[in-house]
Amino acid sequence: MQSKTGARFIEFKQNGDERGHLVVVEGGKDIPFEIARVFYIYGSDPDVIRGKHANHRSEFVLINVNGKSKVKVDNGFTTEVFELNKPHTGIYLPKMLWKDMYDFSSDSVLLVLSNEKYDSNEYIRDYQEYVMQIRSYL
Ligand code: TYD
Repeated sequence: MQSKTGARFIEFKQNGDERGHLVVVEGGKDIPFEIARVFYIYGSDPDVIRGKHANHRSEFVLINVNGKSKVKVDNGFTTEVFELNKPHTGIYLPKMLWKDMYDFSSDSVLLVLSNEKYDSNEYIRDYQEYVMQIRSYL
């Protein structure tokens, strides 16, 4: 279901049998983009807030493959909070969405897939600058 910010959960199929579970994420098939970059975040304390940026070109899918965390998304007009707590559920974040990741459990491993390789120049790290840019799109 499309949310008011454009962020949305994606449920992945669990290929489970007596040996355990296996989840497949194929670019362009299970998620809306081809995968150019993978990174993962772990060892963040519960009081840490990560992210605090928006991206001109990068889209993301976030999956807590272990533990849990929350992501707050902001499109310059409205905010939504999503809890990530299942290894078979991701959240899709389109480009130009401000995001904060927080409330990390001590065992949290947050896997992130993106359509773009890392380029620090396409990150907007100042919230006022982000709001100005998003409003100039309208
Ligand atoms: P940062 O963007 O601050 O992480 P978060 O989004 O979780 O707040 O990135 C932390 C460091 O890692 C920073 O020095 C940039 C570097 N980095 C890369 O080199 N490549 C990447 O793809 C990412 C996401 C970060």
